[in-house]
Amino acid sequence: MTFRTCFTRWPERLPAGRGAPARAMLDVVYQYRLEPARVADAALLAGMSQELVESGLRPAWDAARIAWHIRHPDSVVLAARAGTAIVGFAIMRYADDTAHLNLLAVAPGHRRRGIARRLVAWLEDTALTAGTFTIALELRAGNAGARAFYAALGYRELARVPGYYQGRECAIRMVRDVARQPRGDAAPPPAP
Ligand SMILES: CC(C)(COP(=O)(O)OP(=O)(O)OC[C@H]1O[C@@H](n2cnc3c(N)ncnc32)[C@H](O)[C@@H]1OP(=O)(O)O)[C@@H](O)C(=O)NCCC(=O)NCCS
Repeated sequence: MTFRTCFTRWPERLPAGRGAPARAMLDVVYQYRLEPARVADAALLAGMSQELVESGLRPAWDAARIAWHIRHPDSVVLAARAGTAIVGFAIMRYADDTAHLNLLAVAPGHRRRGIARRLVAWLEDTALTAGTFTIALELRAGNAGARAFYAALGYRELARVPGYYQGRECAIRMVRDVARQPRGDAAPPPAP
């Protein structure tokens, strides 16, 4: 099954006038769970990246590159599953001073149910545990939804990077210090 057929099996739009109850019902039905991706998932994740993150660009995240991150001990590739289907994923690469969020996507029919927030929280907690406090990321400057998402999670815009995407599209670089700015639901960092 291709990624496209996989994620369009679910309703993109909820029934008019019944959005909230229908959403709650779907949350019960789908029971999203997060777990590390497997090498066998790499092609599917590459398809998601091309459709949901890199559309209109030359694909930079092919299956081999994603499989490399799945295998690499300094990267985490985290998948959100509903049954056997992958409906979201994120890739974080950890270094000593900074962790870099390379990719994040949730299938359209599963958005605004907190999946991306949970994916990022897991990856941030891993960074915090490892003593890496700065999380950095770039996103396409025109991606208003993702900018609003990261702002809602406490990320601040650090710089605009002209030509970051294949020399023709600007990126916005965003950062968050997970030690200084704990999430609302996270325990505060220990006193110095
Ligand atoms: C950005 C993206 C990952 C968000 O995924 P999601 O699972 O829908 O996000 P969440 O449900 O966890 O959202 C958490 C909060 O972020 C904010 N938010 C998320 N999407 C938003 C949007 N499109 N517009 C405004 N605010 C948004 C809201 O405050 C939301 O809380 P609420 O639903 O209670 O209001 C998803 O829209 C996506 O995959 N987009 C395409 C790929 C992409 O842009 N990836 C990121 C750049 S690499």
